[in-house]
Amino acid sequence: MKKLSIAVIPGDGIGREVVPVSLDVLRAIEEVHGGIKLEFTEFPWSSEYYLEHGKMMPDDGLQTLQGFDAIFLGAIGNPQLVPDHISLWGLLIKIRREFEQVINIRPAKLITGIQSPLVNPKDFDLIVVRENSEGEYSEIGGRIHRGEDEIAIQNAIFTRKGTERAMRYAFELARKRRKHVTSATKSNGIFHSMPYWDEVFKEVKQEYSDIETASFHIDALSAFFVTRPHIFDVIVASNLFGDILTDLGGAIMGSIGIAPAANINLNGKYPSMFEPVHGSAPDIYGQGVANPIGQIWTAKMMLDHFGEAELGQQLLNVIEQVTADGMKTPDIGGKASTREVADEICRRIKSL
Ligand code: NAD
Ligand code: IPM
Ligand code: MN
Repeated sequence: MKKLSIAVIPGDGIGREVVPVSLDVLRAIEEVHGGIKLEFTEFPWSSEYYLEHGKMMPDDGLQTLQGFDAIFLGAIGNPQLVPDHISLWGLLIKIRREFEQVINIRPAKLITGIQSPLVNPKDFDLIVVRENSEGEYSEIGGRIHRGEDEIAIQNAIFTRKGTERAMRYAFELARKRRKHVTSATKSNGIFHSMPYWDEVFKEVKQEYSDIETASFHIDALSAFFVTRPHIFDVIVASNLFGDILTDLGGAIMGSIGIAPAANINLNGKYPSMFEPVHGSAPDIYGQGVANPIGQIWTAKMMLDHFGEAELGQQLLNVIEQVTADGMKTPDIGGKASTREVADEICRRIKSL
């Protein structure tokens, strides 16, 4: 029996709706599988927690999380209560950084039963490897003066280690897929970091002569996501480019509500964290209509990470059967609630 301990942080907004139902799905899997035991421990860390305690998590929060095999997170952010840069840097980004979750993988593919907004989406199936520890997301910089003389400086950080690591991860992943890597660059407009990014990409690709490559500026690449997403296999992108591309990845699948993600720790020192691409969706929170598929597909990525890829594939198959049969939330054209979709997924898992 494989025992796995999972720290659960529902967080804010619809995180509190999609996480509980996804835990039910994981419990259903545990029930039918028999070979794994999942132990969930929930933490209330959120914007509301901040209002009460003046911080997003306790001072020893990271120490607490460190003992778990994985972290399963919903979404963080309630800008009405706490400014986003405080809540996100106090929890989500803090965990990604401190736990050296240096890679963020985010797949996007055509799902049976979900209408892509594209007229001719073909059968696209891509995965974005997002550098997750540096790049445009840095606290290096500052502000001086106020008013007319005001200056804000934000520095982007590209290290050789971080850049090579993301690219190598992409090439290794491509070896297990269709053997193609696209680099997302912007070396025509960004003077230092992106020519450097291109240079490193050129070097790293020499080590992978079996893999075909392409390099597109992020503006053109974004347009290709809309006009010809089927040409992509693995895409390697900086932190910000990867962030933006993967909301678009969700959109071309039919909804950001179905897009999954995994923050991967590569050195085994800390747990990895599994959270969908979407945020806390304050505009629909409380209505019970949030699409749980992003969170449930994220659970599939957690199963893959635990070496249970077959189980993960079964879960994705069940998700696709449910959408193919029309049991869908409103964002993808259905009338079902969060709970109804998840219950149907549970029911089908139990009858496997
Ligand atoms: P968002 O992803 O929360 O919402 C964007 C749009 O997509 C909204 O119209 C929303 O209703 C819809 N949507 C998102 N998830 C959905 C789902 N599961 N089902 C149906 N519709 C869904 O992005 P935002 O509005 O820019 O951000 C809201 C808050 O979430 C902010 O505080 C932001 O900083 C935060 N955020 C957090 C994370 C995270 O914790 N990983 C990610 C993105 C945004
Ligand atoms: C994501 C989110 C976060 C990011 C925000 C909330 C800081 O948009 O995970 O995609 O940009 O990494
Ligand atoms: Mn994002």
